[in-house]
Amino acid sequence: MSPLLLLLLGLLSVLLCVLRRRNRRDGEPPLIKGWIPYIGKALEFRKDAHQFLEEHKKKYGDVFTVQIAGKYMTFIMDPLMYPNIIKQGRQLDFHEFSNTVAPFTFGYPIITSSEFPGLKEAINRSFQLLQGENLTALTESMMGNLMVVFRQDHLGTRPGENEGWRSGSMFNFCYSVMFEATFLTMYGRPQSAHRHSGMGMLKEDFLRFDTMFPLLIAQIPIWLLGQTITIRQRLIEFFLPHQMSYWSHTSQFIRTRAELFEQYDTLRDGDKAAHHFAILWASVGNTAPATFWAMYHLVSHPEALEVVRQEIQNVLILGGDNFRSDTDVTFSRDQLDKLPYLESAINESLRLSSASTNIRVAQEDFSLRLHAEGSVAVRKGDIIALYPQSMHLDPEIYEEPQTFRFDRFMQDGKEKTDFYKGGQRLRYYLMPFGSGSTMCPGRYFAINEIKQFLCLLLLYFDLELEEGQTRATVDNSRAGLGVLLPATDIRFRYRLRNV
Ligand code: HEM
Ligand SMILES: *[C@@H]1O[C@H](CO)[C@@H](O)[C@H](O)[C@H]1NC(C)=O
Ligand SMILES: *[C@@H]1O[C@H](CO)[C@@H](O)[C@H](O)[C@H]1NC(C)=O
Ligand SMILES: *[C@@H]1O[C@H](CO)[C@@H](O)[C@H](O)[C@H]1NC(C)=O
Repeated sequence: MSPLLLLLLGLLSVLLCVLRRRNRRDGEPPLIKGWIPYIGKALEFRKDAHQFLEEHKKKYGDVFTVQIAGKYMTFIMDPLMYPNIIKQGRQLDFHEFSNTVAPFTFGYPIITSSEFPGLKEAINRSFQLLQGENLTALTESMMGNLMVVFRQDHLGTRPGENEGWRSGSMFNFCYSVMFEATFLTMYGRPQSAHRHSGMGMLKEDFLRFDTMFPLLIAQIPIWLLGQTITIRQRLIEFFLPHQMSYWSHTSQFIRTRAELFEQYDTLRDGDKAAHHFAILWASVGNTAPATFWAMYHLVSHPEALEVVRQEIQNVLILGGDNFRSDTDVTFSRDQLDKLPYLESAINESLRLSSASTNIRVAQEDFSLRLHAEGSVAVRKGDIIALYPQSMHLDPEIYEEPQTFRFDRFMQDGKEKTDFYKGGQRLRYYLMPFGSGSTMCPGRYFAINEIKQFLCLLLLYFDLELEEGQTRATVDNSRAGLGVLLPATDIRFRYRLRNV
């Protein structure tokens, strides 16, 4: 299609929207349209979603509808209302993202189409391979791979460095280690080596794709995004079946999915590869920045780091293991489950850095019950959105919400689960992984991976921030889509601990 034709089509759709601009009906929440038709409030929302929603909440109350990029989104701001939305079944569909947006973003055909009978259900079943007893093998494999990457890249001694201190960029450090170790755990390794060649390049391409991710999710055509289409193509080609067939130690999860794709003649090799690439994004895109934030907060709070390090050492000692920095260490799944302070520190980092939107699409016009006395009218096709970051940063629920308190989720040595709003106990107070039936299937694996990374990091290294840096702040360009990245990288020093 020529650019001119597209421009005309664009103008036409704007015109149509102006003509069809909707007005609030009785029983509907306040409607906020913005003065630019079609785009509505999209630009303000993109700039700082949290701030935007807080301001609107002050003005319009806990439930309001905003026009964002041609869609009407009704935000439910009161976390006491969350349970009503999360349990709604029939009238609200959860799978907008996986059904339409994900195929567009990662470049595979829509899986609900009649060409692929049963595929969606089978993909959904494959997610069980990330959980329950199936998680044990995955966690063990991750442990070995993390150790390989740490040992080869960071535990060797390089000559000529003063007193053994090395300096690094923290985001880059976390990303490199987590990207490669996760990749090896999911997809396996070459038959005759522990690591793939070309991981550094793959990671660079991945990060470049990730920068464009918000635009792709907003359904901006990929050919408008410069090099992105070439970069995505390179990423996809890494997973072509003839390449993957040479890898060994591939996870049961990926092997099952590869076998599943083979059953569909309608899937081309490139489509299968694109599905594998999507899983790479799902498994690294949030986990790597989440690892960064957990590491950053611990390194900037040495007293917290010391408590967590002690907890990790105690678990090893209980297991009869005497840690020494010149030998490899492993943590079993059971041992990882016995680290509540570490878990609290990770949860606290997720509270401060995660910003995903939970979306449901109304399947019909209906009245959505919000609490005992109230409900609002919702139209078919409207989006109901929860934005848990508003809850995560609510001073009524979390005192001094911007402060990192590593033991915020602990009380008397046990996990704390009672958090209150307006005197009422909250059923949901921490939602980095979504809610209800679209909840992240990789959440247990993700927490375990981050724990394993931090266990190794704290056991093997002394860690310090370099002086003269400002605090890390979040880059909001991914607001609404997952864990936020830091606005700039942070310099730190590390050296092998003398034990
Ligand atoms: C800290 C790390 C992670 C965070 C914060 C996170 C967050 C999320 C969220 C919020 C969703 C739901 C999206 C929706 O509402 O539709 C999701 C979906 C998903 N996540 Fe995660 N995730 C993380 C790590 C992982 C890992 C390690 C894996 C895989 C090994 C994974 C695999 C998936 C998959 C496959 C889906 C799509 C599920 C579906 O289509 O129903 N995630 N994740
Ligand atoms: C492990 O995966 C298999 C295959 O999907 C599934 O049948 C089984 O229920 C899973 N186990 C657990 C405990 O989730
Ligand atoms: C951390 O959060 C997860 C849910 O995301 C929860 O299952 C776990 O119990 C929490 N642990 C602590 C110590 O807060
Ligand atoms: C996927 O499976 C889970 C249970 O394992 C279920 O709650 C969910 O509704 C299923 N989703 C689809 C699209 O079938």
